[in-house]
Amino acid sequence: PEPGTPGARRVLLAAPRGYCAGVDRAVVTVEKALELYGPPVYVRKEIVHNKHVVRTLERRGAIFVEETDEVPEGARVIFSAHGVSPAVHEEARQRSLRTIDATCPLVTKVHREAVRFAADDYTILLIGHEGHEEVEGTAGEAPENTILVESPEHVDAVEVPDPERVVWLSQTTLSVDETMETVRRLRERFPALQDPPSDDICYATQNRQVAVKQMARECDLVIVVGSQNSSNSKRLVEVAVEHGARDGHLVDYAEEIDEAWLEGVRTVGVTSGASVPELLVRGVLERLAAHGYEDVQPVTAAEESILFALPTELRRDLKTAG
Ligand code: F3S
Repeated sequence: PEPGTPGARRVLLAAPRGYCAGVDRAVVTVEKALELYGPPVYVRKEIVHNKHVVRTLERRGAIFVEETDEVPEGARVIFSAHGVSPAVHEEARQRSLRTIDATCPLVTKVHREAVRFAADDYTILLIGHEGHEEVEGTAGEAPENTILVESPEHVDAVEVPDPERVVWLSQTTLSVDETMETVRRLRERFPALQDPPSDDICYATQNRQVAVKQMARECDLVIVVGSQNSSNSKRLVEVAVEHGARDGHLVDYAEEIDEAWLEGVRTVGVTSGASVPELLVRGVLERLAAHGYEDVQPVTAAEESILFALPTELRRDLKTAG
């Protein structure tokens, strides 16, 4: 059928999608550092959780390492958008590394909350995924006071020293609905549970989930562009399926789309995680167009205009360099 007629194939394209302000800042930080200081520039962990971004920066001279002890003494190292614990800052100091901290300011905000509540002898129930870099960084601010709660199912096992002094904080990239369910169960067990001073799940994570929810019910298939280790991208697939999409998949590249997914599919929803360059979404749209999905309709849930200044260390050097 012709585009626009009943039964025609179409794409619903979510907005906002892709880069958030924290990712944009982190990627620009590595690019500017490469221009200003010249390669190599070391980066601890993937600067953002996206394969394409990491590969592109590697080609330009960034060297990604797992830990600071892989960085030569005295060299320059950038900390990723997910944040690091005070112990990592200390290791870097001991090796005389010159650090540039690309931690997203919205992650830093959660770190400060952790420090403050720990200083007041609270137990912090940190909702997040075990092993995720952001969780390691945030928990590292107050390791003695923090208990990780992974999901609603984990709530029953939580034990705290003083049920009157408990607060919940969270990773910035979780499913909003699942987190609220975890909090509801925590509050059943600890009625005095305090809320964080402001939302820990960031605006970008929330907006991308709202957009996907708006279109999910109309979609036979939702394709989320993003990497397997990207928390917010994976959550988008889950949210899509929970809200009525018949099927959902996460792909790094257009080539990963399996033609079998498109069988009998009229409406494909497309979105991308907060660490995904728009170029990769374009690739997916082109591949879909080649299969007859040429009619692309936007589904806009919010406008975003937030921008973060580059890390202070870098801004200072850029200024000196004129
Ligand atoms: Fe920051 Fe949220 Fe992006 S915490 S890095 S704005 S996904």
